[in-house]
Amino acid sequence: MVAARKASPLILGVGDNEYIIASDVSALVSRTQNVVYLRDGELLHITPTNFSIITQTDEDVSPVVNRVTWDIEAAELGNYSHFMEKEIFEQPAALENSMRGRFSEDGSTAQFGGLNISPVEFRQIDRLSLIGCGTAWHACLVTEHLVERFARIPVEVDYASEFRYRNTPLYGNPLFFVISQSGETIDTLGALREAKRKGYKILAINNTVGSSIAREADGGIYQHVGPEIGVASTKAFTSQLLIGSMIALYLARMRDMSFTDGVEYVKALKGAPDLVRKALEQAPHIREIAKRYSKYNDMLFLGRLSLFPVALEGALKLKEISYIHAEGYPAAEMKHGPIALISEQCPSVFFAPKGEIFNKLVSSIQEIKARKGKTIVITTEGCEFPAGLVDEIIYIPDCHEAVLPIVATIPVQLLSYYMAVERGCDVDKPRNLAKSVTVE
Ligand code: G6P
Repeated sequence: MVAARKASPLILGVGDNEYIIASDVSALVSRTQNVVYLRDGELLHITPTNFSIITQTDEDVSPVVNRVTWDIEAAELGNYSHFMEKEIFEQPAALENSMRGRFSEDGSTAQFGGLNISPVEFRQIDRLSLIGCGTAWHACLVTEHLVERFARIPVEVDYASEFRYRNTPLYGNPLFFVISQSGETIDTLGALREAKRKGYKILAINNTVGSSIAREADGGIYQHVGPEIGVASTKAFTSQLLIGSMIALYLARMRDMSFTDGVEYVKALKGAPDLVRKALEQAPHIREIAKRYSKYNDMLFLGRLSLFPVALEGALKLKEISYIHAEGYPAAEMKHGPIALISEQCPSVFFAPKGEIFNKLVSSIQEIKARKGKTIVITTEGCEFPAGLVDEIIYIPDCHEAVLPIVATIPVQLLSYYMAVERGCDVDKPRNLAKSVTVE
């Protein structure tokens, strides 16, 4: 068998008396954990007993066999009905893995091993540029909010596909991060190469050791959440939010955040797995809500501040796997257009946590109610609403801003999942979508 790599990924699995080729490690990890990542332009020749690799110019390549740390169970369903369900419930452990060993000894800041950039260089950056696609782009938006809020550094977020071609004027001393679960999304890879061509350092937040993005970035942070098999991203998303929040902390502690505030922030991050466990306890309640709402064809997702991107993510999850048309909006923008859609036929999922703007959120819910729109409100424990205002209420634990977007994501993941199951959809393999998009 002969195989060649051009642009899209190609991986050789070296098993017991067998060779397997695939485009993604998760496809072969149940048969072997020994893999060879081919580089662009390389040709692979497999015989029943051996394999060899050459370049396009006919030079021999000595192959490096890597050992994948993902285990076989990670690629099996176990007692779950779908990988998406399994991956939603795996999130407490996934978050633990993403943060393990990544706090300073004094417990006041984050630390990362593979950035390949000195603290002095980090200190000099005057803006951050975050790039991704799909769910990863939403993670960029949440990170933007947290970095600006806590580290007071201006952040720009771009869709990778736009960044590649719009020739953004770059000035000052920016630091680039691409976020990509698979590390193979061609648009994100293209954006990384464009930033490199312009002479900038670019780091990656990535879940796939050996992926193209991991190899081409100057450094980065691995997510360590194991393979994500469901097409709709869940545990990879919350882990990207966690790492984004840790970056905000790291940068903030280099600037104005005090030791004590840092310690409090670290404590909040360390508490994230337990908070997520608590939020997951709402699953049976959310399943009941999903049964009541699964017949609708349109839904709005509304949130503000760091939960606006989570509203976008909720809408994306729902449309991806249940094919219900859903839109995410900043709650206060509703009056500039989407309010025209509100009727008995279009319910809204509304994030209304405790905080300075709680009253504003309540009045937006009142505007929906006045137009006969139903509301599913996600709020923090202790919050109360005027009698009869909300149709459904989902409580999440009250928590620090650093982890709120993570905890608030759980109910929308569960809601989308149960709605899709109610509608009989193929949750793990939604129509027209692919797990990693290696074409433009
Ligand atoms: C595809 C997937 C999405 C994912 C996006 C970016 O569209 O279906 O779930 O968010 O690619 O993927 P990445 O691997 O770069 O995070």
